[in-house]
Amino acid sequence: MAMLYDEKNDHVKQVSKVGIIGAGISGIAAAKQLSKHNPVVLEATEFIGGVWKHCSYSCTKLQTPRCDFEFSDFPWPDRDNTTFPTHIQVLDYLYSYAKHFDVLKCIKFNSKVVEIRYAGLDRTGTLLNNESNNQMCGEYGKLLNGHPVWEVAVRDTSNQSNGAVQWYGFEFLVICIGKYGDMPRMENTNNGEFSAFSGKVLHSIEYSKLDKEAAHSLLNGKKVAVIGYKKSAIDLAMECVQANQGCEGEACTMVIRTLHWIVPSYWIWGLPFFLFYSTRSSQFLHQTPNQTLFKTFLCLLFSPLRRGISKFIEQYLLWKLPLVKYGLKPDHPFEEDYASCQMAILPENFFEEADKGKLKFKKASKWGFWSGGIEFEDKTRLEVDVVLLATGYDGKKKLQSIFPHPFKSLLLDSNGVMPLYRGTIHPLIPNMAFVGYIESVSNLQTAELRCKWLCRLADEKFKLPPVKKMLEQINEELEIMKRSTRFHKRHCISTFSINHSDEICKEMGINPWRKTNWFWEAFSPYSSQDYYDENE
Ligand SMILES: Cc1cc2nc3c(=O)[nH]c(=O)nc-3n(C[C@H](O)[C@H](O)[C@H](O)COP(=O)(O)OP(=O)(O)OC[C@H]3O[C@@H](n4cnc5c(N)ncnc54)[C@H](O)[C@@H]3O)c2cc1C
Ligand SMILES: NC(=O)c1ccc[n+]([C@@H]2O[C@H](COP(=O)([O-])OP(=O)(O)OC[C@H]3O[C@@H](n4cnc5c(N)ncnc54)[C@H](OP(=O)(O)O)[C@@H]3O)[C@@H](O)[C@H]2O)c1
Repeated sequence: MAMLYDEKNDHVKQVSKVGIIGAGISGIAAAKQLSKHNPVVLEATEFIGGVWKHCSYSCTKLQTPRCDFEFSDFPWPDRDNTTFPTHIQVLDYLYSYAKHFDVLKCIKFNSKVVEIRYAGLDRTGTLLNNESNNQMCGEYGKLLNGHPVWEVAVRDTSNQSNGAVQWYGFEFLVICIGKYGDMPRMENTNNGEFSAFSGKVLHSIEYSKLDKEAAHSLLNGKKVAVIGYKKSAIDLAMECVQANQGCEGEACTMVIRTLHWIVPSYWIWGLPFFLFYSTRSSQFLHQTPNQTLFKTFLCLLFSPLRRGISKFIEQYLLWKLPLVKYGLKPDHPFEEDYASCQMAILPENFFEEADKGKLKFKKASKWGFWSGGIEFEDKTRLEVDVVLLATGYDGKKKLQSIFPHPFKSLLLDSNGVMPLYRGTIHPLIPNMAFVGYIESVSNLQTAELRCKWLCRLADEKFKLPPVKKMLEQINEELEIMKRSTRFHKRHCISTFSINHSDEICKEMGINPWRKTNWFWEAFSPYSSQDYYDENE
């Protein structure tokens, strides 16, 4: 890595071709695929694995089947095992992968990026006449163009340091800081103001930092409210229940703003779940970007079948789980939760604990604190000792906090979604890629394929379409998401993931039809291994 004195900003910077921020699943995948460019991976903590290290409780498990959550060239040791790996096993798998492909050597741990600057700005912060301006008008340009485009300030977060900041310069920067983790979402939670309440308030990320004993003593014999009804909340509620077994134990109440469909396993009426949404034939029923008029017509024709599949799954869930008894039947179709990647897998014994009275549910769109607990919009009060906020994360704010003007204002479009071509390139932000922002049923698989695509793009094996075309494509995808689900802001491609990958394969110059015969092509699900390329 070369050292360079930056006259404009009066600091020395280390210069390298490729920088990657974050060493979670996405950052590790990017580092492996871009390894020939000797990337520098800047990781804020002293661990790889991101959310699997920092947002997991003792009960956290993968909720994607393991054979769908694996790198194409690194199968899980026991990939046919149908149990879900624990978060520790996910971390072990990731470490083995990073060691096997010698990725760890690229990582600078305890290196938190605190600021990103664009080298093409003058002292007043105005864009110089350069590639970015060209970009606004037409072509995106090369990812690697021989000079540093991004300057990155990195704070040493190790205990021994005094928070020293070192500057780096990169031609191409890959942002992998994660959609979840690090920045708790606190909106509507009285802006983080809990002083009215005399008990304890913790966000799920703070709870994740507690060891088993501390977690147990926080919850044991306490009345607890868990705010939220998604996967973090459901798992947290189960941790509360487990800490409150026996007659001394108190009940845990889940405060639910929006109901969602919850699923006990990947089997529906005896059929494997993948048949409904993860094969080419099942995704054929759903809209895809740039579809022909004929396909639009077919989709219309098939819409009763699509709705029927959703209803079929809903009927199973209503039969299998006491959703009606507990007032937990969502108003929206199952398909909308699936299309927004919001399907949570239910832990064992969840409703058994509700039947025992250990788990309670309170539906409330608004709530606030009073000294003894939580007050709801209907003025009823819940007395609690501890409030756990499983309210999710603000990944966009996390990104904006390190992003420079004027790009910060371009990060989100008017719908509040990041406009990313192939889920990776922001057409108006030069020499930068984002991995881990679009979601699917397996975020690892989605990230890895996009990193392969990125590597070929950096090597100029293909060219991006003009900026206008990319924006049109992004818009097409967003329209599909909007038509599929009211929760489109989750930026999820699960109902057209195979089509999304097909387009990526075509640009990479590889055959998008990855199966050995038409039967498998139509009826078997697509996994990472389908994208294994022995020539890589
Ligand atoms: C508890 C939990 C369980 C999940 N389970 C599943 C699942 O079963 N299946 C699935 O498909 N998806 C799951 N997800 C979604 C999950 O986010 C992805 O699967 C994936 O692990 C995300 O990886 P990532 O690398 O994009 O982000 P992260 O894991 O968030 O990693 C980001 C990394 O960037 C680092 N970083 C952040 N800011 C900076 C900075 N300023 N400077 C330097 N480094 C920085 C962080 O320390 C972290 O190491 C889960 C998410 C959570 C929170
Ligand atoms: N593999 C695993 O076991 C596992 C475990 C945990 C998390 N995850 C994943 O991690 C990601 C984040 O999950 P998450 O559960 O932490 O966050 P999330 O999916 O964003 O869910 C946040 C929950 O909090 C609710 N909420 C937010 N603000 C609220 C408020 N002010 N008042 C009341 N309710 C509020 C939301 O309700 P609304 O729906 O009304 O917004 C929602 O129920 C997801 O992708 C999830 O699948 C996976």
